[in-house]
Amino acid sequence: MADEYKPPALPPPFTNTTPAPTLLAQGAEAHLYKTVSLDPSIPAALKVRPSKPYRHPILDRRLTRQRIIQEARCLVKLVREGVSVPAVLAMDWEGQGGEESAWGGAWLMMEWIEGPLVRVVLEQWEAWMKKNAASLDQNQLQKEEDRVRGLMKRIGHTLGGLHKAGVVHGDLTTSNLMLRSPAQDTTDSPTGVSMEGEVVLIDFGLAGQSTQDEDRAVDLYVLERAIGSTHPRSEPFFEEVLNGYRASHKGTGSTLKRLEDVRLRGRKRSMIG
Ligand SMILES: Nc1ncnc2c1ncn2[C@@H]1O[C@H](COP(=O)(O)OP(=O)(O)OP(=O)(O)O)[C@@H](O)[C@H]1O
Ligand SMILES: [Mg+2]
Repeated sequence: MADEYKPPALPPPFTNTTPAPTLLAQGAEAHLYKTVSLDPSIPAALKVRPSKPYRHPILDRRLTRQRIIQEARCLVKLVREGVSVPAVLAMDWEGQGGEESAWGGAWLMMEWIEGPLVRVVLEQWEAWMKKNAASLDQNQLQKEEDRVRGLMKRIGHTLGGLHKAGVVHGDLTTSNLMLRSPAQDTTDSPTGVSMEGEVVLIDFGLAGQSTQDEDRAVDLYVLERAIGSTHPRSEPFFEEVLNGYRASHKGTGSTLKRLEDVRLRGRKRSMIG
């Protein structure tokens, strides 16, 4: 029998905090914990990049360090520019935690975003619609589609702000978009699925500084493909992402034009297989 999965050891000082951080998500590279900030009444998200034992220790240290610093640098810049991303609370890129440990990873502590992933929101909405859309009248159906359109538009607007600040995300999927739950939710929908709240961008592990139309267009294209494959019922409304993007700031025209080329290249590539 396989041994029960044990997450890697937490970096110091988080081995000593009470309550202990809880592991929420474990990607290929990073582990995401919910913990508390210096003020224990304020929740925080802790992203840990453990060192990879199979990599050369010097190379490993450099890569782990570079990625966490890159991520923090983007977040700090974006908060300053007023783009909606989690604020950075603390970090350690030396991988020592102030102690003489062999722990070679790095971590980033950031603001905790209370609210659902856009992926979950769209999945729940699509599941409900699949089962119950036939029971809705024309007016209700229209209302539901308008809600998705509105969400798409807000996503596009947020992406416009991101690009305007000179950052490209590099991994735009609906798992890297969250909704910050509003204090009062006024959703009135038979689906029971709220789409309210500010759109928040997360996961800047692959982000970088760029103002190139090509990089921006690829960001939009990656999201378009991600929505097409994970949310087929929402895909027809993707155009609203572009409308929100276009309205977000001046000078998006050249990026949107470039998107046409990127789409064509993508289509050719998938024809060749
Ligand atoms: N600031 C935050 N507040 C609340 N939840 C968060 C926050 N950051 C991340 N999460 C949750 O943790 C999950 C994983 O985080 P994230 O996307 O940053 O890591 P990842 O995809 O494993 O990272 P990477 O692609 O850089 O290796 C998110 O999908 C989200 O559910
Ligand atoms: Mg992610």
